[in-house]
Amino acid sequence: MKTTPIVPARIVFDDDGTPRSVEYGDVYHPRSGALAQARHVFLDGDALAGCWRGKDRFVVLETGFGLGNNFLAAWAAWRADPQRCRQLHFISIEASPPTRATLASIERDASLTPLAAELARHWPPLTCNLHRIAVDGGGVELLLAFGAVDAWLPQLVAEVDAFFLDGFAPARNPAMWDARLFKAMARLAAPEATLATWSAARAVRDGLRSAGFAVENAPGSGGKRDITRARFAPRFAPRASPRRGSTAIAATSSRGPGTAEARPSARDAAVDAPVIIVGAGLAGCALARALAERGIRSLVIERGSGIAEEGSGNAVGLFHGVVHPGDGRHARFHRAAALAATAAVRAAVLRHGVRGSAAGLLRVETGRTLVEMQRLVDAQGLPVDYVEAIDRHAASRLAGARLSSPAWHFANAGWVDPRGLARSWLADAGASARSRLGCTATSLHRSEAGWEVCDPGGASIAAAPIVVLCTGDGALAGPSPWPIRRQRGQLSGVASAELAPIEAPRLPVAGAGYVAPALDGTVWFGASSAWDDDDPALRCRDQQQNLDRLAALLGLPEPPALDRLVGRVGFRWATDDRLPIIGAVPASVAERMAPGFVAARSPRFDQPRFIARAPGLFVSCALGSRGIASAAFGAEVLAAAITGAPLPAEADLLDAIDPARFLTRGFRRDEAARQRLAASRVQPPVGPIAGSAGA
Ligand SMILES: Cc1cc2nc3c(=O)[nH]c(=O)nc-3n(C[C@H](O)[C@H](O)[C@H](O)COP(=O)(O)OP(=O)(O)OC[C@H]3O[C@@H](n4cnc5c(N)ncnc54)[C@H](O)[C@@H]3O)c2cc1C
Ligand SMILES: C[S@@+](CC[C@H](N)C(=O)[O-])C[C@H]1O[C@@H](n2cnc3c(N)ncnc32)[C@H](O)[C@@H]1O
Repeated sequence: MKTTPIVPARIVFDDDGTPRSVEYGDVYHPRSGALAQARHVFLDGDALAGCWRGKDRFVVLETGFGLGNNFLAAWAAWRADPQRCRQLHFISIEASPPTRATLASIERDASLTPLAAELARHWPPLTCNLHRIAVDGGGVELLLAFGAVDAWLPQLVAEVDAFFLDGFAPARNPAMWDARLFKAMARLAAPEATLATWSAARAVRDGLRSAGFAVENAPGSGGKRDITRARFAPRFAPRASPRRGSTAIAATSSRGPGTAEARPSARDAAVDAPVIIVGAGLAGCALARALAERGIRSLVIERGSGIAEEGSGNAVGLFHGVVHPGDGRHARFHRAAALAATAAVRAAVLRHGVRGSAAGLLRVETGRTLVEMQRLVDAQGLPVDYVEAIDRHAASRLAGARLSSPAWHFANAGWVDPRGLARSWLADAGASARSRLGCTATSLHRSEAGWEVCDPGGASIAAAPIVVLCTGDGALAGPSPWPIRRQRGQLSGVASAELAPIEAPRLPVAGAGYVAPALDGTVWFGASSAWDDDDPALRCRDQQQNLDRLAALLGLPEPPALDRLVGRVGFRWATDDRLPIIGAVPASVAERMAPGFVAARSPRFDQPRFIARAPGLFVSCALGSRGIASAAFGAEVLAAAITGAPLPAEADLLDAIDPARFLTRGFRRDEAARQRLAASRVQPPVGPIAGSAGA
């Protein structure tokens, strides 16, 4: 998917206070009021209350988030309905979202005011992403796709129960009513999905009919004679889009998340948890939390005697996005992950007192001038609450240290104690996640329950329909089945007084190496990296290298003596494309991991989404040197895939982190080699080729 700069909405108000778009010259809702329209056209039009009753999940897809009135009305209706679905997912696409300040300033019906204030608190930076906002303990999930509707619809992975079509008037905003969009919606529609819109335009109705919707007229309100209601009733069942091994297990409780009744007892979780997570590092703990939020119990198996004591056991770690020309998959993934980490770290600090902060991070830039940096920001339309290019003076003021280069200021990035974060995630999961420490899982077998995980003696540890490998390298025993490498890293620490005459930085600073603000009087900095190096002991030369980088980063005049430093060695796993491996395990890989498992054949190999998966087997590994953000984001992706909920990432990003991407690449390489070979066997004809420039 191509990134487009997001330009905030320009809104004026008519004399009666009705908001109007400057760009489209149309009102956001009729003068009779936003709530009245939301209720009559959309909530009643889609018969939401009747349709979501008793369901585990209900998915709405809206075109045109605008000022969020329809979302707020749906959220309020969900709250007020004792027979609501357990989880409401509201996906909305918006090309020109309001800024947070504009959103907060909109006057609403009193019944929506508190919800609107909460929405404004969670409002994300205006970047071209699928932003996830979870409210009411995860009972309501808003997925906000910022960008053009025609770009986003093919990127969504969801099964939609109700569509809200809410573009501006078709004559002023034709891009929102194009017949091709209705076809894209048909591919997302659940059987019997409903659709509602205030528009009664003939072209809209015709377009819906030809996409497989049965359309009917309904009385309008607020000055409109007619509106349109529709039901998905195709004459031919459309081809379902491949779902990458989604298993759609249901929550164990139909009550809202976060309630005492929704939480099973700890004993239950151990006995019959439908998900086994192997590995209690950042990845495993993040997943346990995300599953618990969806009402799914898990059993976390960890070979160590504590939580997050291996790769995730450092005292501090940094999280932030990246800026890159072209904004390819790598930059898009790390931006999405960093945005997820901001929300996760803030929640952990607030709820559990985890040490950390999402109040900003500086990444010094030595390869570009400030002007070049600014050009990049402008070309991608990146907002200041995501990243800003600042000169070295401004950067030094923010850091409280003398920096010698301009810097990227990621305003909502920061640092955290990764162990504390992982533990807080497990605490959030409560009794929904039970952990078994000191327990090594070495083999995996197909069983009646789905999968059985066994210990080194071959005895069963547990069995469940779903197993997720969060073991760092994605293996249980022996060499990893993934094309990844191990990297040794050494982090160094020094008492902040040892840095005199300078002080510890106020914000984390990254560049060649990084340094975090002081934690309990110690400043942590690093980290060294060495591939395929298994040495677990602290090394002086790595301490020296870290110290040299620290001195360069902060302009340290007199670095402390080496014997004043402490340190820790850890190991990270990384792929050659520097993206993690998150998703359903391809069947052919499972065949190698689980003796006796026979893989289904893949219908195609050219794209990851067509590759056959082992039912119920997932992996989250190779988080590299960005495990904090990748774990937070990856857990949401996995939890959605496991439960069949809308995926909180676009299809292109899912491909980028898909465990099957290596098979696809291998297939493409072989295909290209075959074609080269075939071409070399066919001798070109002598003389000019018909139709060529010479003919
Ligand atoms: C020096 C250093 C500095 C870093 N700095 C940063 C940073 O600033 N920011 C950042 O985001 N990231 C950083 N990272 C990377 C980050 O720490 C990792 O990406 C992250 O911790 C990986 O988490 P994980 O859950 O995948 O793996 P781990 O934390 O290693 O967790 C895997 C768990 O699985 C358990 N396990 C493995 N096999 C089995 C089995 N067979 N049975 C039972 N249990 C098993 C292990 O005991 C372990 O607890 C750094 C890493 C290092 C080494
Ligand atoms: C009528 S308003 C939506 C009102 C909104 N549903 C609410 O409840 O407040 C229409 C919205 O569609 C958005 N829009 C227009 N063209 C678009 C496009 N091509 N892609 C995505 N959004 C678009 C506009 O920016 C505007 O916010």
